[in-house]
Amino acid sequence: MIKVAPSILSADYVNLQKDIELVEQGGAEYLHIDVMDGSFVPSISYGPGFVKAIRPISKMVLDVHLMVQNPEHIIPDFVEAGADIIGVQVEATQHIHRALQIIKNGGVKAEVVINPGTPVEMIKPVLHMVDQVLVMTVNPGFGGQKFLPETVAKIAELNALKQENGYNFDIEIDGGINNETVVPCYEAGATVAVAGSYVYGADDPVAKINAIKDATK
Ligand code: DX5
Ligand code: ZN
Repeated sequence: MIKVAPSILSADYVNLQKDIELVEQGGAEYLHIDVMDGSFVPSISYGPGFVKAIRPISKMVLDVHLMVQNPEHIIPDFVEAGADIIGVQVEATQHIHRALQIIKNGGVKAEVVINPGTPVEMIKPVLHMVDQVLVMTVNPGFGGQKFLPETVAKIAELNALKQENGYNFDIEIDGGINNETVVPCYEAGATVAVAGSYVYGADDPVAKINAIKDATK
């Protein structure tokens, strides 16, 4: 069964604590926090202060996805804020190895993220040092986009490298995930599913978390 990471990008910010407690009680293992800088992606969302405010109200794994150009300088602030996992986009830095080292040196789990247009080949040299790989299943920047089926082959490729080399990183998927699109991803080796609009856009978010889990039993 896949682990579920609701993305609070689609939550109700005015009633955020309620929306966070709802998914935690509903069985979500991770809380996905999308940090957008208005440069790497067009939108602006929130920063380390947001993570710091959430930390004391939840025991879920705080899964921070940095869609930030040159993230190295801001990583320590997210470590300090209480993130459990910090993800950096390989396209956003010339020094992916260094960025991952900074995360690990902070005692936090390190994740590398690849966009739909980026081949798995790009991250091969750092796969030995990561705790999680995020395969974007839409182009980052917005919630509510349509799943890109061509990304499934990359999940399978990554999973083959994981088995061949005895790596034990999680494979996360993010973008357009629902109870149907999660199935081919899970079959290809995905272990964590981010879902934003599918969960928080529903009248009953917990039913949607269960639907993702039921589809991957
Ligand atoms: C997109 C973000 C996603 C987003 C997913 O840039 O990285 O985490 O919240 O939203 P849905 O599930 O609606 O595609
Ligand atoms: Zn994300």
